[in-house]
Amino acid sequence: MLNLFKKITQEPVDSFQDRLNKDDIPKHVAIIMDGNGRWAKQRGLPRTAGHKKGVGIIESIVEAAGQTGVEMLTVYAFSTENWNRPEDEISYIMSLPERFFASFMPKVMEANMQLRCIGDLSRLTPKVQTIIQDAMEQSADNTGMIFNIAVNYGGRLELVRATQKIAQEVAKGTLAVEEINEAIIGSHLYTPELPDVELLIRTSGEERVSNFLLWQIAYAEFYFTDTLWPDFTPDEFHRALYAYQNRDRRKGGLTQSK
Ligand code: IPE
Ligand code: IPE
Ligand code: MG
Repeated sequence: MLNLFKKITQEPVDSFQDRLNKDDIPKHVAIIMDGNGRWAKQRGLPRTAGHKKGVGIIESIVEAAGQTGVEMLTVYAFSTENWNRPEDEISYIMSLPERFFASFMPKVMEANMQLRCIGDLSRLTPKVQTIIQDAMEQSADNTGMIFNIAVNYGGRLELVRATQKIAQEVAKGTLAVEEINEAIIGSHLYTPELPDVELLIRTSGEERVSNFLLWQIAYAEFYFTDTLWPDFTPDEFHRALYAYQNRDRRKGGLTQSK
């Protein structure tokens, strides 16, 4: 008994990475990065301090995802509903991409990653649009992990936009109503060539989807943690992957042994 206890307590703290099955890494992981405001409030700081800290940890999680073999990582940075926040908070959030992209893009290029953004970018300032456009163009031919940032993104808006495009094709006569199926709808989303999300992580203790990737998460596993986004670590990312690997993904069928 004593020996067994010793063995457990002597395990390295960051051991979830070692326990991962390399053959069962989710291809597409999505993260709702929530809790910046509460992180700041707990410290008596303005909400903007939480956003600053939150942006600062993104790189470590992207790196952890790349190292574990995740092929696509999509993070929720700003929702179509986040415009309902006070103007000064919004303008602070919109000031963050400039510095973030300046320090992050060299690393994206070095890691051969492809950077993409999804959402209605037309509502962003011309400056932010240019920064995002440049980053996407610069990394477009890279062949490593796809890092996808959702900015002014709403799952319902994405479906409205897809429906409009499909309706236009039907009106033009290039698509028949009978041809509309799941693949056609999927191909009109922001993420036509990305596979469905297999693991969705949400930090901060909230257990809701908040209009994120509504179509793509149809069969995703959800991992909720009380950790606030600025405190999220690579170790907890590995823990989420480990939890995913221990789920029984039946997808409407019967239990499969993993
Ligand atoms: C997530 O943190 C960041 C954005 C939504 C932009 P919040 O700002 O929502 O933080 P809480 O939920 O108020 O703690
Ligand atoms: C979801 O978080 C959006 C992002 C993390 C960008 P919110 O904080 O906006 O979501 P609600 O309001 O708690 O549902
Ligand atoms: Mg929130």
